[in-house]
Amino acid sequence: MCGIVGYVGSREVVPLLMDGLRRLEYRGYDSAGVVVIQDGGLETCKAEGKLDRLKEKLAGQPLYGRYGLGHTRWATHGPPSERNAHPMVDSKGRVALIHNGIIENFLPLKKRLIAEGWTFKSDTDTEVVANLVSSYLDDGGSRHSLRDAVTRACRELEGMYAFAAVSTTLIAAAGQDADQEIVAARQGPPLVLGLGAPGSREQFLASDPSALLVHTKDVIFLENGDIALLTPDGVEIRNRQGEDVQRPVQRLTWDPIQAEKGGYKHFMLKEIHEQTQAVQDTFAGRVDFERSEILFDTVKLSEDELRRVERIHLLACGTSWHSALIGKFLIEELARIPVEVDYGSEYRYRKPIVDSRVLAVGISQSGETADTLSAMEAARDGGAHLFAVCNVQGSQATRISDGVIYTHAGPEIGVASTKAFTTQLVALYLLALYLRQLRFGHVERHYLNDLAHLPQAVNDVILKQEPRMEELARRYFRAENFLYLGRGINYPIALEGALKLKEISYIHAEGYPAGEMKHGPIALIDRDMPVVSIATGHDTVFEKAKSNLQEVKARDGVVIALTDRDPEELGGVCDEIIEVPSVSPLLQPIVNVIPLQLLAYFTGVRRGADVDQPRNLAKSVTVE
Ligand code: M6R
Repeated sequence: MCGIVGYVGSREVVPLLMDGLRRLEYRGYDSAGVVVIQDGGLETCKAEGKLDRLKEKLAGQPLYGRYGLGHTRWATHGPPSERNAHPMVDSKGRVALIHNGIIENFLPLKKRLIAEGWTFKSDTDTEVVANLVSSYLDDGGSRHSLRDAVTRACRELEGMYAFAAVSTTLIAAAGQDADQEIVAARQGPPLVLGLGAPGSREQFLASDPSALLVHTKDVIFLENGDIALLTPDGVEIRNRQGEDVQRPVQRLTWDPIQAEKGGYKHFMLKEIHEQTQAVQDTFAGRVDFERSEILFDTVKLSEDELRRVERIHLLACGTSWHSALIGKFLIEELARIPVEVDYGSEYRYRKPIVDSRVLAVGISQSGETADTLSAMEAARDGGAHLFAVCNVQGSQATRISDGVIYTHAGPEIGVASTKAFTTQLVALYLLALYLRQLRFGHVERHYLNDLAHLPQAVNDVILKQEPRMEELARRYFRAENFLYLGRGINYPIALEGALKLKEISYIHAEGYPAGEMKHGPIALIDRDMPVVSIATGHDTVFEKAKSNLQEVKARDGVVIALTDRDPEELGGVCDEIIEVPSVSPLLQPIVNVIPLQLLAYFTGVRRGADVDQPRNLAKSVTVE
């Protein structure tokens, strides 16, 4: 939620900020704005709506400068509008500030500042921070640096925030713009510093490393409570206690090209296609096919500690929660350890039973989802060991965990998760096999062979189903409701198919365990209701799925069956058949979800929706 970007150096800043915002736009697209320091004054340009509106405005009102900040907003306090767009400038025009998060005590602070004579033009909590910081620049008759003013302001802020500020007072004092500086603070949402090449005299700041990749791969993730000062000569970080601290510099391995559309119309389609490679990259190097062994080198717990684990809690939100539901099947079947699955947002409020025999695994593409992080922290506070299944190097989930299984999906830009999901499933399969290896001393070779065959099956299903799903979308894009049915390990795929359709096309869709249809949803079925039934798998499950198809047809519903069996076996009741290759039952969900991703994509495109940036959503949900 909300994208933050900043630059100090010698290059013209606005093109840099706009490029960064373009890469961060998936984090929020209600409004956008930039601030530069021009002739000793703060110059802002803001626009409601997507970044292109800001671009148009800047074309008619160019801004020039060598340092500044940019922001894309996902609205929390105050509706999307230019008035509420960031950067926010304080009422004395000395501080400009961009912010991601929620200041919980903004109302009492606002009242106090109003009483002191500060004025407000927006509905945002951010403007409160801008005025508060400004109030400390010359508090008590003496002048303070921007860093000191931010430090004092932070002591009063309650809530979760990442913000960055620039100020004009330094320039006024020095009479030139030699004192370029940005001050940034983090308490909750992510903030990453990008280090310019040695001698380049430039530094960068962003809420997500994907905005920095084209400039640098050397980054520092700020910790909670950190306040950073960026000048062309370097970065200085102080912790919550005001002590100078050195945070580790991490080298990103992502290729900047991965964050481009690469000829595809949308990131979502590109990312669906990248699944063949991403799936393979996620198990490559972690499986010794010769010795039939799983190798994990990013686990800090000893094998003995892991052997003592008696229960596993899988914690996640959204699509990652669907991965968790499948993870339960994988771990219980392969490692025979009982698994509980929770929404991040529910876990800590339900007083879960946690102790040192629990391994809690946070599953998150971004590693920054506030609900998942809170749940992970609650588990850790209860004594659990903590693992993360995560896609973003150095993100908060990875930093608080005793073990990390990275999903090597590369940057996922489309708001709808696709390759992050399938690679999470591969990572959870590996985790389940690893636990099996620890508990039972071995992993049977056929489990690994199944994995080795998976990329080919993924590739086949993408190539075969892309034109077919475009055709189905053309036929059914006008439907206002869809039902998805699945059983067992494929029930979460029904949920995921429905979530993808909702997010991308705004069609109401529900996923149900197929056996539950007769307990309620069957009342909804009529000739306008397409029902997508996942009919893959072994005989009993398949026979039950066939009965569901009959029940839908008997009520005139549109039957769309996804199957790995001979279509003849479906009894001639299907309006449409989606054929998928057969793989091992534990990996079949990875293959099954792909046509459903494509169906959602093409349906969204047909309905004219913005599939990469669906309304009201943001890629990383960093507020609770
Ligand atoms: O980054 P995370 O995996 O923690 O994100 C969790 C959800 O917000 C995310 O999966 C969301 O549901 C996606 N938009 C689904 O496509």
